[in-house]
Amino acid sequence: MKYLLGIDLGTSGTKTVLFDQEGKGICSATVEYPMYQPQNGWAEQDPKDWYNAAVSTIKTVLGKSGVDKKDVVSMGISGQMHGLVMLDKDNEVIRPSIIWCDQRTAKECEEITEKVGYENMIRITANPALTGFTLSKLMWVRKHEPENYAKCCHILLPKDYVRFMLTGDFATEVSDASGMQMLDVPNRCWSDELLGILDIDKKLLPKVYESCEVTGHISAEAAAVTGLSEETLVVGGAGDNAAAAVGTGVVVDGKAFTTIGTSGVVFAHTDKLAIDPKGRVHTFCCAVPGAWHVMGVTQAAGLSLKWFRDNFCGAEMVTAKAMDVDVYELTNQEAAKSPIGANKLIYAPYLMGERTPHLDSDCRGMFFGLSGMHTRRDLLRAVMEGVTYSLNDCLGVLGEMGVAPETMLACGGGGKSKLWRQMLADVMNCPVATTVNTEGPALGVAILAGVGAGLYKSVQEACKVMIHENPPQDPIPENVPKYAAVYKVFHQLYAANKDLFKELGQLD
Ligand code: XUL
Repeated sequence: MKYLLGIDLGTSGTKTVLFDQEGKGICSATVEYPMYQPQNGWAEQDPKDWYNAAVSTIKTVLGKSGVDKKDVVSMGISGQMHGLVMLDKDNEVIRPSIIWCDQRTAKECEEITEKVGYENMIRITANPALTGFTLSKLMWVRKHEPENYAKCCHILLPKDYVRFMLTGDFATEVSDASGMQMLDVPNRCWSDELLGILDIDKKLLPKVYESCEVTGHISAEAAAVTGLSEETLVVGGAGDNAAAAVGTGVVVDGKAFTTIGTSGVVFAHTDKLAIDPKGRVHTFCCAVPGAWHVMGVTQAAGLSLKWFRDNFCGAEMVTAKAMDVDVYELTNQEAAKSPIGANKLIYAPYLMGERTPHLDSDCRGMFFGLSGMHTRRDLLRAVMEGVTYSLNDCLGVLGEMGVAPETMLACGGGGKSKLWRQMLADVMNCPVATTVNTEGPALGVAILAGVGAGLYKSVQEACKVMIHENPPQDPIPENVPKYAAVYKVFHQLYAANKDLFKELGQLD
């Protein structure tokens, strides 16, 4: 039997899973790390934390599984997208990584749009200049920390930094590179035109591969610290959403999934390039060679619930620890005791600004309609419902582009909650299914690793063998109009407060 390793470098932690060649999970390990928010709207992480987490989880799964390292033929890394990692001439990290949900770069986005032109930006990168994406973060460092920019010899994405540390290769792949906003997305290569206009040296950028191509193998040094074999191949891998698509079998036209991880995403595969002219959803190269995907992003999906848990659910955290259960099982039970609409309480999940559909780095979260009768369980339910409404906003934009999935696959931590899946089904009025193997991004990159190692002919063929769906949860007919009425109010909240968010942001 051959084995494949999938590493998922997330925002709250890194999870490594060892699979057999049929996609069965053998063993997994997770290590968490912090996110730093030095100012309102800023978000940074230490790349060393990612690497240490990768090393420690690889060691754990190899040790626990007892699998011979020679049988781990290939591996892939999936990662949180967009984060900027800068290395100096000695390949040392220059500054903490400015990550995907950081919102400090609104000014830089305006400057990029002015220099490149809005239409050109969409033509080349398939997206407008966005605060979340790597390019504006790089421009911010060039302007505010010129000494750091001057030292920079290599720019890498989070997962590609870990790849570099494991293999010594400077490489990326098309799905994650799309989110750097320096890639010519229709042609799947760096854009000389855009780099020229913005005066960015192409030598800073890594070589671009397709997601299932082999980019190298484990170095002698990394083999010694992880316990892996130097013969283990490393494939391109994918950005976390493109990887989750492979891990849920969303690799052909007409298929879509919703993930509730730290961010939330509604994602649809497309064999033909499709771009929203208003830029409300992203178009990226996907992990299937020659295809793309469109996706809407809710910045703070699981992040909203985690924020609420960390600040207001101390009792549940203590009980969960004592009972050795997941704290979210307890918060789900509490939320289920509040009715649909959380007794007329609505939560807007804009803790880290918002992308789809508002593209606004100034907006912030809110509870709307708080009353003296509300309890913590109403607030909990409102958080879960608010995230669901925001994901429905994403589906609405995809719908305008002609994407109307028959079934929605749910994944990510939030997708494990039956209550949250039912909310998705009722709010989206669409059956919501899960896959039997719930490893999503880690399975996705293991599949890509299997294709790269020649175990499968194509990504689609591998998915047919490795991905199986559970029966869907259907919408409950009487719930659909109840949620629709609350969603109507939610949908108007942003516009009603847009100017106030700006004013608030400008306060000292
Ligand atoms: C996608 C995005 C997030 C991150 C973190 O554009 O920013 O989904 O990849 O998960």
